[in-house]
Amino acid sequence: MDVYESALDLVGGTPLVRLRTRGPAAVYAKLEYLSVGGSAKDRIALRMIERAEKDGLLLPGGTVVEATSGNTGIGLALVAAEKGYRTVLVVSDRVSEEKVATLRAFGAEVVIRPGALPRQHPDHPMNHAAHLAATTPGAWLANQYDNPANPEAHYLTTGPEIWRQTRGRVTHLVSCIGTGGTISGAGRYLKEVSDHTIQVIGADPASSVYAGGDGRPYFIEAAGHFLHPDTAHDVWPTSYHPGVVDRIVPVADRHALHTLRQLAREQGLLVGGSAGTALAAAHQVAAEAGPDALVVVILPDSGRQYLSKYFNDTWMLRLGFLDGDASAARVDDAVSEDRDAPTCPYLNTHTPVGEALEVLRAAKGRGAEPVVPAGPCPAGPGRRPTAPELTGSATLASLESALRDGRATPADPLSGHLEPPLPQLGYGESARDALDTLAARAQDTAVVLRDGCAQALVTSAELRAVLSRPR
Ligand SMILES: Cc1ncc(COP(=O)(O)O)c(C=O)c1O
Repeated sequence: MDVYESALDLVGGTPLVRLRTRGPAAVYAKLEYLSVGGSAKDRIALRMIERAEKDGLLLPGGTVVEATSGNTGIGLALVAAEKGYRTVLVVSDRVSEEKVATLRAFGAEVVIRPGALPRQHPDHPMNHAAHLAATTPGAWLANQYDNPANPEAHYLTTGPEIWRQTRGRVTHLVSCIGTGGTISGAGRYLKEVSDHTIQVIGADPASSVYAGGDGRPYFIEAAGHFLHPDTAHDVWPTSYHPGVVDRIVPVADRHALHTLRQLAREQGLLVGGSAGTALAAAHQVAAEAGPDALVVVILPDSGRQYLSKYFNDTWMLRLGFLDGDASAARVDDAVSEDRDAPTCPYLNTHTPVGEALEVLRAAKGRGAEPVVPAGPCPAGPGRRPTAPELTGSATLASLESALRDGRATPADPLSGHLEPPLPQLGYGESARDALDTLAARAQDTAVVLRDGCAQALVTSAELRAVLSRPR
């Protein structure tokens, strides 16, 4: 019979499909979403658990613990379910709802922790998972970031599959870098087997530190390396072996998102955000390579996990990734500032109250109540805060009253005197919808986002003025 004995036999073994591209080089996509758990992470989950069993670290009746952005959790949960282990997963609150629901469907217990914390914070998902593993009897921490079985899984399976499937004709491998396991393992295998002729190329969100970015938040889940501004000591995963990688192509979130939406609409492949990042980089690599090049790009997971985000026009519009309907009055029409200059005022939470007051007084005259967004992003020109960094706001009225009442001194950090964050609007949203949003939140001022970053402030008076203009 042509059958499999268990779900575990359906881990990996994914197909390569040729993509239609403009240049002469061939581009083949490795569809990791066709692995049994829906992502490349099934491979490492199986390998890490089998290793732990072999090393006596995971015994019958034991508990698998991990901090995971989702896919590794799904892989671990399904392998653990099949083998009869309990699973406890710590995920960041930035992970999509679909991923969390999938983890629970496999019987895993899910603990949600804030994603926007510096690495040393005890509530950071990785520290919380380590704490749970240390305090739960029979628990084993998978630790994909530093587990040699992670790159090893790709060295033993992903790399050899690609070599076999292309009959040794592959010339370039393009992969995202999250933990680094995929690119380090598959890349090392392909380099070794090809006598080091294959080029291994990392694809990275433009602000990720792997690509040389400043580590500010980006909107592609599971790829790259984010750096909280208060991080004392940045730690890179030891699953990532930078020496295997020949170059890294930074990809702006907008480019990645439009690439993956286009792939679904034009080639019938529904893939996740990091696949969009990898594919955008692969197009660039293919465009620069000759006609004999055969580029393999790894598409780690399915777009079904992101229907509420990357394939949802409301989400895309709100964050400023879509232009919207240019025939209607839009938020953009109310933004007078030069688009290329960072004009949105912003206060860092460490700013002394006295200094914040000066910024607020300068902002006076914009809205009825002078208000400036605030958060952990370092202030200063050239660094636009991203949407997740707009964690609060400061108003002139409340700071002045705090000083008057003696609740604050001018030297206090602003962090103790913040108001809730301002509403956020995408530049492409209709001015009418934007006014409704402000009215529903009983606010007069909002932050306008473009490409996920604060571009400017807009007031309801400015939006009303745009609507009353003849078009
Ligand atoms: C959605 C997604 N993107 C990117 C990656 C990056 O892979 P790695 O952690 O091996 O670097 C993964 C891993 O499979 C993933 O699931």
